[in-house]
Formats: sequence, structure tokens, C-alpha cells
Amino acid sequence: MVTGAGRDLGQAIAGAVASEGAEVVLHYNRSKGGAAKLSRRIHRGGGKAHLLSADLRSESSCRWLIRTSARLLGRIDILINSAGLFERTDVSSLTERQFDRLLALNLKAPVFCAIEAAKVMTRRGGVGGRCVGARSGGGRIVNISSLGAFQAWPAYLAYCASKAALVSATRSLARATAPIVMVNSVAPGLIDLPEGMSESERDRLVSAIPAGRIGTYDDVIDAVLYFCTAEYVTGQVLLVDGGASLR
Ligand SMILES: NC(=O)c1ccc[n+]([C@@H]2O[C@H](COP(=O)([O-])OP(=O)(O)OC[C@H]3O[C@@H](n4cnc5c(N)ncnc54)[C@H](OP(=O)(O)O)[C@@H]3O)[C@@H](O)[C@H]2O)c1
Repeated sequence: MVTGAGRDLGQAIAGAVASEGAEVVLHYNRSKGGAAKLSRRIHRGGGKAHLLSADLRSESSCRWLIRTSARLLGRIDILINSAGLFERTDVSSLTERQFDRLLALNLKAPVFCAIEAAKVMTRRGGVGGRCVGARSGGGRIVNISSLGAFQAWPAYLAYCASKAALVSATRSLARATAPIVMVNSVAPGLIDLPEGMSESERDRLVSAIPAGRIGTYDDVIDAVLYFCTAEYVTGQVLLVDGGASLR
């Protein structure tokens, strides 16, 4: 079950877990076309995908999404919480509405999806069959946070706070749902460059990354797949930032 699977990073992650043999529910909010396109690609490759749409800013829609996914799939082995908003919220002009919107999608949604999914995983008590996380049973939850959880970006105060809180929630969820569920987080650094960025601005950003380049979807996917298969790792966050956090 992958949230935000209709476009960009979430879509790439969903495609990757499907390539590993997982039957997937592709969640989307507005990107129906992108989710449908990915679903067709998965079916053409011999896999199986389902589409579900939900605005995840309320607890009830999160719980509905997970329960419906469990009905479609028969069980949930892996939940990847990727849907999220990256929005500029300058400190001087930050509004309550902006703040609530970011916290609702970046924190409340993954938390309630995780709580509901953990119930499904715990009821089942273990994993069988063919899926990337299926070696020894139990469920896996991967929350996509951000380098912003660990740095101070004043123009993105609400985003950074929401992702830092998601890292904290990952740790609490990991303890609460052990030993059946393992909950971890992948924190990407710079992956997508904002549209219209000048070459000099791009060079300035890249020069701050020890790895000497911006990241790719594949860099993030490697980390997500690791947490989907890890047997003895829970409550952790893996920064996929080319070392940007070291500065
Ligand atoms: N890409 C990066 O460089 C980067 C770096 C660090 C962290 N991240 C994190 O990685 C995750 C995925 O990033 P991305 O680049 O794929 O994000 P994105 O391009 O900004 O897309 C946002 C995603 O969130 C979904 N979404 C937006 N509003 C929603 C709502 N109200 N209810 C449910 N879903 C909603 C969108 O679904 P629809 O399009 O269907 O509406 C879309 O899938 C996010 O959590 C992001 O913060 C990304």
C-alpha cells in the first residue's frame, strides 16, 4: 500500500515495490491519470495493482483508505507513507491554515494510516507469500520524511516541523507495534529541483552536497526497499542526502 503513488517520488516507489513482486494499492488524491498509468504498466508486466483515491487530511479518510486496501489485498504486508506537501511558509507570513494543512498531510495522515495498518498487520500476526517484506513475517511501515526534519529552513518552518515530528512518531510507532510491525523512515535530501531554477542556483545547491550531485528516485527507492526487507531494524531514520546533513 503506497500513498501518493500518482506522481513523482511516490509513483516511482510504488512502481519499484510492484517490480519486486508486491501486489499494490496505489493511492492518489488528484493524480488519477498518473496512478492509472502506473497501474496499467504493472498489469502489463504481469503484476497486480488497485487504485484508491482519498484526501488524507482527515483521520477518517486515512482509516477508510487502509481498511479498504486490506479488503482489496486480503492483507497488508507493507505500508509506504509517501504523500506529503512541500510548501514555502515564510515565518513572517505563516498562517494557521498553511500550518494546519502541512501538519495534516505530513504528520497526521501517516500516523493514522500507520495505526490502522498496524491493526491489520497485527490481526494477521505475520506475513506469508510473495512480497518484498515477507522473509520472517510481520508488517513493515516506511514513512518518507525529509532532510528538512534535521535542518533549520526558516522559509519552510511548517514543513521541517512536520517532518521532524514524523521522525519522532516513527520511533513511538515502532515501539508501540513491535514485535510484529517494524516502522522506519527514509529522509531524502535534495531529489527534485524546483522548476525554473537557474544554473548558478543549482550549482550552489550541489556544491553543498558532499556526494557532488542531487539524489535520484533510485537512491531513495534503495533505502525504502531495505526497510521493506530488514529483519532487525525498527524506529530508525535513514538520511538519503548525499551527506548534505554533515555540513
Ligand atoms: N521529491 C523530493 O525532492 C523530496 C525530498 C525530501 C522529501 N520528500 C518527501 O517525499 C514524499 C514524496 O514526494 P513527492 O516528490 O512525490 O511529492 P510531490 O511531488 O510534492 O507530490 C505530493 C504527493 O502528495 C499527495 N497529496 C497532496 N495532497 C494530498 C492530500 N490532501 N491527500 C492525499 N495525498 C495528497 C499528492 O497526490 P496527488 O498528486 O494525487 O494529489 C502527491 O502524490 C513527500 O512526503 C515529500 O515530502 C521529497
